[in-house]
Amino acid sequence: MTAGRTAGRVALVTGGGGGIGSAVARRLAEEGAAVAVVDRDATAEAVSAGIRATGGHAAPFLCDLSDESAVTDMVKEVTGTLGDITDVCCVAGSIRRGTVTDLSLDSWRGTLADNVDSVFLVCRAVIPRMEQAGRGRIVTVASGWGLRAGEKAAAYCTAKAGVVMLTQAMALDHSPAGIRVNCVAPGDTRTPMLAREAQQLGQSEADFLAEAADRPLGRIGTPEDIAAAVAFLAGPEADFITGTVLTVDGGGTV
Ligand SMILES: NC(=O)c1ccc[n+]([C@@H]2O[C@H](COP(=O)([O-])OP(=O)(O)OC[C@H]3O[C@@H](n4cnc5c(N)ncnc54)[C@H](O)[C@@H]3O)[C@@H](O)[C@H]2O)c1
Repeated sequence: MTAGRTAGRVALVTGGGGGIGSAVARRLAEEGAAVAVVDRDATAEAVSAGIRATGGHAAPFLCDLSDESAVTDMVKEVTGTLGDITDVCCVAGSIRRGTVTDLSLDSWRGTLADNVDSVFLVCRAVIPRMEQAGRGRIVTVASGWGLRAGEKAAAYCTAKAGVVMLTQAMALDHSPAGIRVNCVAPGDTRTPMLAREAQQLGQSEADFLAEAADRPLGRIGTPEDIAAAVAFLAGPEADFITGTVLTVDGGGTV
């Protein structure tokens, strides 16, 4: 139905091996984009192979997105393999639950590195070519907790608020060059991240999921719910939208 919508595009999806990132990668590939599935582990290869098995165009790229030189090399490799990057979806992120007094400095820094440094480094590497081309689309993934604090997640809330503000700062600076920069702020979404959170809090996964579903629409999100919003903001229907934060959370932040 949507095939061809992003034909001719090259989309770089960070965290492409994860729950939400893999749904974004599949969705953009279905719409006709060549997709660079970027992650720090072998999940990138599995997601990429799955897309190719269904006739899509995708290639895996292994990269620690918090490592400056690794990101520079990866962006060069993606461009050399698939062509100029037209769309960037910054989905990679991680969570370490805890209050300020629970968190080690390493946990704090690791959370900021995975969630914020990754966006900074990838965008810094990609934007100059987009500016030369006079167009580009960037979609970041923050969280409802980047807009409103949640308990026992001090580093994560700080990091996601940083992603929101980085998105808006980039929108101000780079929209005049034709680059739209927007953010999706998901609520709880069924991915491996939720299982890790339950474990970190010492809760059963079932209890954690039941609590997470307590929101106006009465369920947690699916990766496809979030991918649809990312695809919208990266697509032509959003051509007059930049610097926005779209919450996709079943009303959780209301
Ligand atoms: N699942 C939720 O409930 C939820 C809610 C709000 C926001 N989010 C955000 O959505 C995004 C995707 O999360 P998810 O739920 O799919 O989790 P996930 O754990 O399934 O996927 C995250 C992916 O990011 C990758 N990643 C993290 N740091 C990286 C790094 N430094 N280099 C390379 N890859 C790295 C991981 O390897 C993983 O594949 C994250 O930014 C997360 O914070 C998730």
